[in-house]
Amino acid sequence: MRVEPAAAVVGHVVVPGDKSISHRAVLIGALGEGETRVSGFGRSGDTQATVDAARALGVEVEDVADDELVVRGVGLRGLRPGSVDCRNAGTLMRLLTGVLAGQDGEFTLAGDESLTQRPMERVAAPLRRMGADVETTDGHAPLVVRGSGLHGVEIEPEVASAQVKSAILLAGLNAEGPTTVVERISTRDHTELILEAAGARVRSRAASVTVEPAGALRLEQVIVPGDFSSAAPLLVAAALVPGSDLTIHDLGVNPHRTGLLAVLERMGARVSVFNRRRAGGEPFASVQVQPGELVATEIGADEVPGLVDELPLVALLSSHARGETRVSGAGELRVKETDRIEAVTDGLRPLGARIHSLADGWTVRGVPARLRGGRVDARGDHRIAMLGAVAGLASREGVAIEGADTAAISFPGFYELLESVTRR
Ligand code: S3P
Repeated sequence: MRVEPAAAVVGHVVVPGDKSISHRAVLIGALGEGETRVSGFGRSGDTQATVDAARALGVEVEDVADDELVVRGVGLRGLRPGSVDCRNAGTLMRLLTGVLAGQDGEFTLAGDESLTQRPMERVAAPLRRMGADVETTDGHAPLVVRGSGLHGVEIEPEVASAQVKSAILLAGLNAEGPTTVVERISTRDHTELILEAAGARVRSRAASVTVEPAGALRLEQVIVPGDFSSAAPLLVAAALVPGSDLTIHDLGVNPHRTGLLAVLERMGARVSVFNRRRAGGEPFASVQVQPGELVATEIGADEVPGLVDELPLVALLSSHARGETRVSGAGELRVKETDRIEAVTDGLRPLGARIHSLADGWTVRGVPARLRGGRVDARGDHRIAMLGAVAGLASREGVAIEGADTAAISFPGFYELLESVTRR
């Protein structure tokens, strides 16, 4: 796939439904009583893995439309023992481990080559403290979960991770007594919001969240907002290409997800957020981005969870921003779908970026000029493929993306949508 330079990025678009919320809607729907209708479902490689997992565990999921489905719940402990292939979906594997810990029977969770290299003790260890029987393979998938009686505990996970927090909270639904997760740096709260919508008792405080054991969940409807992380490549393209003006409507703007907007603004892009409203506890809005003269910035650990999946795009932005940008406290990027610190460094440097990797981030020396262009290897990682495409639009000579198809893991139709807003 080649992406040629753009003269501007202009238009009004919507993006597919939020991946994090789509996974959760299916999993919580599966644990509910009766039907859950999910509208705006973000159909992608990852969320399809979750639909197929629910089916493998005895849950009926009816595809009503491409972006709508109905999940017929089996109740909090009604999942049928079996094996699940989580494919490339880390969120599925980690959340499901928490869901299964308090079920009856034995479950096996496997994944593709990339997922099998990602750390799983971060969920297994806290769940064991609750009484769960979770076996990893040297800390990785395949996992074996044998359902057991759980008890609530207070846990402070070692990493700031919404996936780990969610696994613990989901296990807590079937535990005896309350379960508390302490977070020094807060992470996305989609699990808390959807559990509340399903009638669970969830108490969120500044640095912790507690869930009470649930008798039953009932989640009639989920309206999924557009995925901020899927909007991000488009927004960054609009910030980078002079003369652009792009608006994305019906977008999820949960404040735990929109760290990129704050970074865009302080780097000098023009951002406006309007038409704010709420559905099912989640905030929606329209977001408009126009370019500006970009200047370097600094990003540290506290800010990372709010833009963790957007950091590769920040590296690209900073290569066009006057001065040196430093991103640190982002060591988590090394254990994503690929080592994103090296994938971004090796991807952007040959295009002309002056980027150097750190153990936990990058430094980038930027100049307000287009990168030359060249070739980017996606390394099987959807976010790196999309980074390559945006780099192409903002370059002088265009970018060829190797393994471009992997974008469909989170965003099928990405290249078509990007093309539809590109002026040449
Ligand atoms: C996610 C949490 C984040 C994020 C991932 C989705 C979620 O991962 O990177 O894409 O849906 O909870 P971590 O929890 O590992 O930070």
